[in-house]
Amino acid sequence: MYDLVVIGSGPGGYIASIRAAQLGMNVACVERYPTFGGTCLNVGCIPSKALLESSERFSEAQTHFTDHGIEIDEVSLNLEKMLSRKDEVVSSLVQGIEYLFGKNDVEGIHGWGTIIDENTVEVTDDDGETTTLETERILIATGSKPIALPGVEFDKEFIVDSTAALEFEEVPDHLVVIGAGVIGLELGSVWGRLGADVTVLEYLPEVFGGRMDSDVAKLAQRVFKRQGIEFVMEAEVTAASVDDGVVTTTYKHDGEEKTIESDRLLVGIGRYPFTENLGLDNIGLQTNERGFIEVDEHFQTDIDGVYAIGDVIPGPMLAHLAEHEGVVCVERMNGIAGHVNYDAVPDVVYTHPEIASVGKTEAELQEAGIDYKVGQFPFKANGRARALNDTDGFTKILAHAETDQILGAHIIGIRAGDMIAELAVACEFESSAEDVARSSHAHPTLAEIVKEAALDVDDRKLNL
Ligand code: FAD
Ligand code: NAI
Repeated sequence: MYDLVVIGSGPGGYIASIRAAQLGMNVACVERYPTFGGTCLNVGCIPSKALLESSERFSEAQTHFTDHGIEIDEVSLNLEKMLSRKDEVVSSLVQGIEYLFGKNDVEGIHGWGTIIDENTVEVTDDDGETTTLETERILIATGSKPIALPGVEFDKEFIVDSTAALEFEEVPDHLVVIGAGVIGLELGSVWGRLGADVTVLEYLPEVFGGRMDSDVAKLAQRVFKRQGIEFVMEAEVTAASVDDGVVTTTYKHDGEEKTIESDRLLVGIGRYPFTENLGLDNIGLQTNERGFIEVDEHFQTDIDGVYAIGDVIPGPMLAHLAEHEGVVCVERMNGIAGHVNYDAVPDVVYTHPEIASVGKTEAELQEAGIDYKVGQFPFKANGRARALNDTDGFTKILAHAETDQILGAHIIGIRAGDMIAELAVACEFESSAEDVARSSHAHPTLAEIVKEAALDVDDRKLNL
């Protein structure tokens, strides 16, 4: 009898399993794929960041090395090597989970997990062999899958989701992307840097669909355009077909029906919670109208002893959030107090420049009727950004008009993803902008931009 069976080994499931085992629980983690790590390690965060890093270096070598006085005669691409490096990064990390399971006494089991009743999970392996696991509690961490657009069927070669777009064997001449969201812009950037013409068709008037502060989204789109990505905003895609290797995508724009041809089409319009063949009906557990499993503050579902975390529950779909929810969930099972502060969860887009945010956007504060002050500081006035030869962007801090508490922070610029960590901690500690402004920040670092933005909340920036 297990204390806990976790279904799914993504960042939510594998971290929850390790933490539960650390707390003395007897844990099994069931994963239907041959490697642990879920979407994030196998086909998400890690391979996409590996390709973003490689393609960024390729692009830098072509465009900006000469600014540093580095002359290279010719820069050429070995795509096969780039893809195999990405695969090596992935395999080293997924093997790392096997090691961590061993070290923490988590039993990793490969096979499809089906909930039979509140205390039983059946695991079916690839040969159809079944094993029955008896357990005190069940944690569902089955993650998400790409949403398909009606009329645009994935064929894994020409019309693809993010997984296949990490594997193109050749750089497409023309890549059309549906959706100016995180996937569209990260993977659009990868293939654009490697030489593809990239056109993004987006339903809404702004990139990132309201997820990022509007000022940040506007600057991001301007910079991406300068990098060569074309945008058709307020475009509604209705169909796509493939003929002789040419994809024709049909969309409505400006009241007209238009078509665009490309050699690859990437659909990045969001992901849906994955609960297929999980056996939810066997325990009478309903999903909400969008397919998510609803939970309470203990991450317990409507069924006693059955919990859920990560992409399969409502909320942002982020790896570090899935981990955080997993840890809080199993700690609460063990009587340890804790909660997830959703206003202190950073959100990073790994394009160039990077985009990072935590807490509320200006639009959200306005909608909530909260009075706030704004502090802003540009990268171009920072010594380190100049030394890095990378001065696009700014940091913006939103603080409560009376208490000065930081309610939101938004950064666009090189290494924004690392810079936001300080502001996420500030939000978690309910710090004021003055707290950040009075803290010492090393010179010369990009972190000084955060300090200056915090000073600017009180209208007293020093270096501009
Ligand atoms: P998942 O990682 O989806 O894991 C769920 C696991 O459950 C899967 O391995 C699945 O096989 C398994 N499973 C499902 N059903 C069963 C079953 N019945 N039996 C057994 N196993 C089952 N997030 C970030 O924070 N940063 C990023 O940079 C980032 N980049 C991304 C890039 C891409 C291209 C994509 C697609 C996503 C990215 N994400 C990123 C999102 C991130 O991957 C997810 O938020 C995260 O993986 C969710 O974790 P999870 O544990 O909830 O689910
Ligand atoms: P997304 O929700 O970020 O963006 C989807 C975009 O597609 C939106 O702008 C939306 O308006 C648009 N769209 C929807 N339907 C459309 C249509 N019919 N025609 C044109 N445009 C349409 O979803 P995305 O990019 O697929 O990412 C899925 C999830 O994966 C996200 O929730 C994200 O959190 C996660 N992810 C996170 C990353 C990160 O943290 N860096 C990287 C990649 C993915």
